[in-house]
Amino acid sequence: MNVVKTVADLRAAVTRARGEGKRIGFVPTMGNLHAGHIALVKKAGQRADFVVASIFVNPLQFGPNEDLASYPRTLTADQEKLFEAGCHLLFAPSVEEMYPHGQSMQTIVRVPGVSEGLCGGSRPGHFDGVSTVVSKLFNMVLPDLAVFGQKDFQQLAVIRTMVRDLNMPVQIIGQPTMRAEDGLALSSRNGYLNTEERAIAPALYRTLNQLADAIRNGHRNYQTLLAEGQQALQAAGLRPDYLEIRNATDLQPATANTRELIILAAVFLGKTRLIDNLLVDIIPASV
Ligand code: PAF
Repeated sequence: MNVVKTVADLRAAVTRARGEGKRIGFVPTMGNLHAGHIALVKKAGQRADFVVASIFVNPLQFGPNEDLASYPRTLTADQEKLFEAGCHLLFAPSVEEMYPHGQSMQTIVRVPGVSEGLCGGSRPGHFDGVSTVVSKLFNMVLPDLAVFGQKDFQQLAVIRTMVRDLNMPVQIIGQPTMRAEDGLALSSRNGYLNTEERAIAPALYRTLNQLADAIRNGHRNYQTLLAEGQQALQAAGLRPDYLEIRNATDLQPATANTRELIILAAVFLGKTRLIDNLLVDIIPASV
């Protein structure tokens, strides 16, 4: 696996691969890789001939009181994992390489609608940072396809909308969330949890499943269900940031007629913020 740190070297390597007739797959990450990231890389390898991954902790998507400084940076271990997963090229730029003219005057890509509310409500500016860095990375790599995890469901919706609205010639592939045996969604931020918190954390996914079961059993009063869900989270020791039932296609609030639902939640556990989601398809009763 080749490792490059500059846009010029990245472009040269990708141009070579494309010249050999290879289809380019791309997996953008912020590093501290776990099995969920490796599944993204393997998915890219199934769909493309040449897999590019990036590792860049993007300052533009962190709020002033968030964990930019403490976000785990584990480049050596990450390189090893990417190599084993079949990645061909790693792009690991510096902040100066990504934002050579500084961050304050950087052109921003803003995706209205799907980026608002949920994580966008709790983390102002976060999705502007994500859509800006992902569009820069897409312009640098020029991939045929890119793979993103469904754990960040709103992020995936933002990227899909950006690609559609800006006519970017990139196929976006969503990869199902990988979970620990007890159901906790894999996340780099799980490493912040102490032993006691780690034991509490699976209650998030348990609660999402309880709500999904209730919906599948015919409950349609979503406000009541959400109130019960909030209570269940709190009783387990989690502090809800939001818990919502939305239309899975546009992330608008679900109505009794919505068929493809998504239950989305963000909670605080100590100082750690965890997010998760669960898709629920309602099969209409046959007439
Ligand atoms: O999901 C992430 O790790 C980041 O938001 C991404 C897509 C790499 C952009 O910085």
